Amino acid sequence: MKRRQLLLTLLGVPVVGALVYEAIAKSKVPLNSQYEPALAKSPSSSPSQTSEANSEITLETGEEPLLRFAAIADNGFGSPDQFAVAKSMWETYQQKPYAFVLMAGDNIYSYGEIKLAKAYFEEPYAPLLNKDVKFYAALGNHDIIKTNNGLDQINYKLFNMSDRYYSFTKGEVAEGTVKFFAIDTNSNAPWEAELAWLDRQLTSSTAPWKIVYGHHPLYSSGEHGSDPELAAKLAPIFAKHKVPLYLCGHDHGYERFNPIDGTTYIVNGGGGAPLYKFGKSPQTAFVSSRFSFMTFDVYQDKIITKAIATNGEVFDRSIITKTS
Ligand SMILES: [Fe+2]
Repeated sequence: MKRRQLLLTLLGVPVVGALVYEAIAKSKVPLNSQYEPALAKSPSSSPSQTSEANSEITLETGEEPLLRFAAIADNGFGSPDQFAVAKSMWETYQQKPYAFVLMAGDNIYSYGEIKLAKAYFEEPYAPLLNKDVKFYAALGNHDIIKTNNGLDQINYKLFNMSDRYYSFTKGEVAEGTVKFFAIDTNSNAPWEAELAWLDRQLTSSTAPWKIVYGHHPLYSSGEHGSDPELAAKLAPIFAKHKVPLYLCGHDHGYERFNPIDGTTYIVNGGGGAPLYKFGKSPQTAFVSSRFSFMTFDVYQDKIITKAIATNGEVFDRSIITKTS
């Protein structure tokens, strides 16, 4: 038995799914010509000005986006479910390549130990990493426990973190692409300095799109729920700078909110750790607790979001437009 299989077995993690995906990944299976994303049922609340209901959107215009990226969170579990999401990510990539992946925390369960990165990160995403698809990590609550308070992950090359909070730009900014802000939302984050940095960075950036991501939700109908303290820190900054999108995880499932003060909030925590139960709030546009990841097609005037299940089904989609 290979070392990793032995480790998974010792941890009580079934290895069958992992082995199946490994076999598929190594066999270079041709594209699945049957893959046909389906629209999900109507969401529970009506569309608002800047985020439309998923069932009302015709997305396939044929127009190539300026930038396409993917996102996951709460993924580093080494479980068959993580491998199933990873397989779906790879199949999607083969059809419509995305440039990189945002990874919004809980990158390695249960204590963030970097020695598990090979089994819980490098192996599940090997086909993507082999294509030089970069992952940009944020620190989750599990990532700061046995990691010198996150430092081990910050120093781990494949997480591409320049600090515990950092920004990076992708695409030709002049043509309408994105500046990303990865933030540390843990309670022990250096909040005063971080919030001042975020405010400064958002003020000085001339990028047409500014997207913020971190591990913890401001708003969520999952088991952890909304975090009023975090919302008090971040929501005024997002509103001041008209941040169109905040992506997070922590609650293990998917929930997209209609824009709140101009910002679309998405919980995208179905990356592989066991799922949580979700309710819904009056602001919920769509909610579904399932293993999934997301892709984002960025255009000059809009971002098309897709939530994708392990079977390739696009179960939610939305259009984010700029807030004037
Ligand atoms: Fe978490």
